[in-house]
Amino acid sequence: MYIVHVIEEFGELIQRWEQHDSYVEEVKRLSKDLLHESESRARQLGAAKIDIIEDEGDAAEKILQIAKDKGVDTIVVGNRGFSTAEEFLLGSVSLKLTHHAKCSVVVVR
Ligand SMILES: Nc1ncnc2c1ncn2[C@@H]1O[C@H](COP(=O)(O)OP(=O)(O)OP(=O)(O)O)[C@@H](O)[C@H]1O
Ligand SMILES: [Mg+2]
Repeated sequence: MYIVHVIEEFGELIQRWEQHDSYVEEVKRLSKDLLHESESRARQLGAAKIDIIEDEGDAAEKILQIAKDKGVDTIVVGNRGFSTAEEFLLGSVSLKLTHHAKCSVVVVR
């Protein structure tokens, strides 16, 4: 089982911000915390072999690439993330994965 988090925040504009370095550091720290929390939760629930993967860039593109490289049979995602636009059933990441993944995609609601 791979637990994946893609950091998407590092756009071009943000690189011009004077507090950029401390911001990047904080986001990376939060990302690692999130991955390690998820890993121990998965272990508690009985998953034996777990790898955590952190990447940067477009979340859907990176997840598709990782799924291909690792030869996974199923991608599991939530239907929505942190966005508040509640009128859509699927967020853009889960929508893109369901459209483009070559393997099965389970969307958890
Ligand atoms: N950066 C990411 N890294 C790993 N998985 C992600 C990431 N972003 C989203 N996902 C996965 O996709 C699911 C759906 O999130 P998504 O981002 O598509 O919805 P949203 O945040 O509500 O909307 P949007 O991002 O399009 O404004 C999440 O529950 C999560 O499983
Ligand atoms: Mg999102």
